[in-house]
Amino acid sequence: MPAIHFILADGTRRSLDAQEGWTVMEVAREAGVPGILAECGGGALCATCHVHLEPEWLPIAGGATETEDMLLELAPGRDGASRLSCQIVLTPALDGLTLRVPEEQAS
Ligand code: FES
Repeated sequence: MPAIHFILADGTRRSLDAQEGWTVMEVAREAGVPGILAECGGGALCATCHVHLEPEWLPIAGGATETEDMLLELAPGRDGASRLSCQIVLTPALDGLTLRVPEEQAS
């Protein structure tokens, strides 16, 4: 069961045990992580599930796909570590994954 760590916009951490095969967005939504709105329900249509990977996780989780990249153009605060959390499927290799919720999504 992979653990995921969210660093919230206010700097606090929220650690969750996740089900393998779930997406990061599903885990966040189930637990009510603030700032992960996921308005399209995981369809890669809204970019309201935007997160920043911590730098050490970028080579492991991988960067944004072409589709994500186009949507992330709309996401405030987007950077090279940006991903749509609905497109990150949890595997044992992602145990310990640490992500930041963008400040722009905090309100
Ligand atoms: S939930 Fe809409 S793009 Fe991820």
